[in-house]
Amino acid sequence: MLEGVSVRVSLIGLLLACATTAPTSKKRDWDIYSFHINSTVTSRYATTIITSRVANRIDASQEIQFHVKIPKNAFISKFIMTIEGQTYDGVVKEKEEAQRQYTQAVSHGQSAGIVSSVGRTLEEFKTSVNVAALSKVTFELTYEELLKRQLGKYELLIHARPMQPVADFKIDVHISEQHGINFLERKGGLSTKQLANAITKTQTPTEAWVNLYPSKEQQTQCDGCGEQGLDGDLVIAYDVQRKNSIGELKESEGYFVHYFAPSDLPRIPKNVVFIIDRSGSMSGRKMKQTREALLKILGDLAEDDHFGLITFDNFVSPWKNELLQANQINLHAAKSFAREIKDNGGTDINAAVLKGTDMLNRHPREGTASLLILLTDGDPTTGVTNLEKIHKNVKEAIDSKFPLYCLGFGMDVNFEFLEKMALENNGVGRRIYEESDAALQLQGFYEEVATPLLTDVQMVYLGGSNLTQTHFSQYYNGSEIVVAGQITDNNITEFTAEVIAISKSNKVKYSETTPSEEPIKASSDSNIQRLWAYLTVKQLLDKEVKSSGDEKDKVKKEALDLCLKYGFVTPLTSMVVTKPQGEDSQVVHKPKEGEKPIGRAL
Ligand SMILES: *[C@@H]1O[C@H](CO)[C@@H](O)[C@H](O)[C@H]1NC(C)=O
Ligand SMILES: *[C@@H]1O[C@H](CO)[C@@H](O)[C@H](O)[C@H]1NC(C)=O
Ligand SMILES: *[C@@H]1O[C@H](CO)[C@@H](O)[C@H](O)[C@H]1NC(C)=O
Ligand SMILES: *[C@@H]1O[C@H](CO)[C@@H](O)[C@H](O)[C@H]1NC(C)=O
Repeated sequence: MLEGVSVRVSLIGLLLACATTAPTSKKRDWDIYSFHINSTVTSRYATTIITSRVANRIDASQEIQFHVKIPKNAFISKFIMTIEGQTYDGVVKEKEEAQRQYTQAVSHGQSAGIVSSVGRTLEEFKTSVNVAALSKVTFELTYEELLKRQLGKYELLIHARPMQPVADFKIDVHISEQHGINFLERKGGLSTKQLANAITKTQTPTEAWVNLYPSKEQQTQCDGCGEQGLDGDLVIAYDVQRKNSIGELKESEGYFVHYFAPSDLPRIPKNVVFIIDRSGSMSGRKMKQTREALLKILGDLAEDDHFGLITFDNFVSPWKNELLQANQINLHAAKSFAREIKDNGGTDINAAVLKGTDMLNRHPREGTASLLILLTDGDPTTGVTNLEKIHKNVKEAIDSKFPLYCLGFGMDVNFEFLEKMALENNGVGRRIYEESDAALQLQGFYEEVATPLLTDVQMVYLGGSNLTQTHFSQYYNGSEIVVAGQITDNNITEFTAEVIAISKSNKVKYSETTPSEEPIKASSDSNIQRLWAYLTVKQLLDKEVKSSGDEKDKVKKEALDLCLKYGFVTPLTSMVVTKPQGEDSQVVHKPKEGEKPIGRAL
């Protein structure tokens, strides 16, 4: 479900400057003799453990690196190094506190530095440690994430790049879904022909196992692999069975989670207005990709949809002053208009969004779902340019009547500004990466919101407390609404779940009094609480973006307390990795999406 999405966090690994510059020629001096990735997914909640065992082969101590990439949406929750039987545990602390410790280390004259890397779907974790002559070290990293349903499936992404062929290499994935697995497919560079006989897949109706055990030789032969061993992704895409419309309810140890994703409803006709930035900075490829995506999106509108098209630079130029029906004649004319969109001038975001809002407000909305989609690549430069004023104007104009989605094109946008504007208006902010597939990214985003099935969705839990978000302005086919919470006094007999929403033609109501017809397996027990914590933290981080003053501090404090309790590395916390005596501690950060690298080698 889009409202629940958070796509803005990323991570920085912090490491000693000398480690970053370690020459590659050193690599032969240490041997990764074992590399395991173990991912366990229970009801969409994935816990992945990466274990790397490394031997120092030379007769002198040396710095050994551990460098992996993990999904952006995940929170690191554990990191342990074991050297000569001694374990060193990472400890999650408040960011400022960790930073203070780190600064102290620097001021003591020890050399230290920060390296960050923010990719599209992955972020980096890097650390290094000094290992004595002919000794061994084990690195173990754990991260957790709730898999998000998008376009009808969940995707578990595992990135493997141990940096050398490994004698004992294993990826083990175990998925367990109580209501049954609908389909499961493997994708990604590690699922190609060359590795076909190294992969096995075993499936029962409710469980699946995928194991990738390539030989050392195979690790050098796959696509993108070479002398340095495996380098690629294994993606497991799957969906689950949905036996009843209210979805899946699970409870254990006083916590519950509810997955709601009906698909057997008629689509609700949309009123959609696209607001397209054509300022000078959009010139060239970005403008071309936008035209391309827009033409495709227009082609995908249904005949009973209504649409509007606004381009803006210094001036706001709507194609037509009101929404028109998406019939052949209008679409034909709109496409001709879209083909001619050219870049020019400044960026008046305020006026453009207000114009779009006005068009939607003037359009009758009974039995339809309205949405506003803004695409821009820069900061407001003309008209109202005060960011707070724009937020205020837009929020007042939209007045929670429909969601606003903000797509930030490229890395020059003020993503925080866009994201805040979207979150304040029941939408999400999304980054469009300035690469060759940008048109596909735009279409992909549109597809996610293309089929509204419900509006004004209210999730009601009697006997539930500390609930995550329970109101969603729209629900789209292929997505999922997830709500978690505590069961008051752990008294399940009093607990009921109900969903009230508006579908195409009428008000709908689903209810169920007892969670799940089937007994809950013991293996899933501790997960629901962690899932609740994960989702609560994600939503509090979003809430922090859109709140201010005392409210902001309160939300931040609440999120921080949970992060510390559950050991999550988030933009509010850092993990301090203590190392053997004589070495600096290291600090692992997770900055926000769009945040510039926060330092450099000193
Ligand atoms: C993966 O991790 C889980 C949880 O720690 C454990 O129960 C399971 O045995 C591990 N699987 C493998 C193949 O190591
Ligand atoms: C919603 O998606 C399902 C497949 O996941 C499809 O069978 C159904 O037709 C879709 N509903 C609409 C209204 O498009
Ligand atoms: C749940 O809510 C109650 C009352 O609102 C509060 O006292 C309690 O601390 C909350 N529990 C957690 C784990 O946040
Ligand atoms: C749960 O609530 C019911 C109804 O209020 C009550 O009869 C029962 O004793 C409660 N059970 C527990 C374990 O508190």
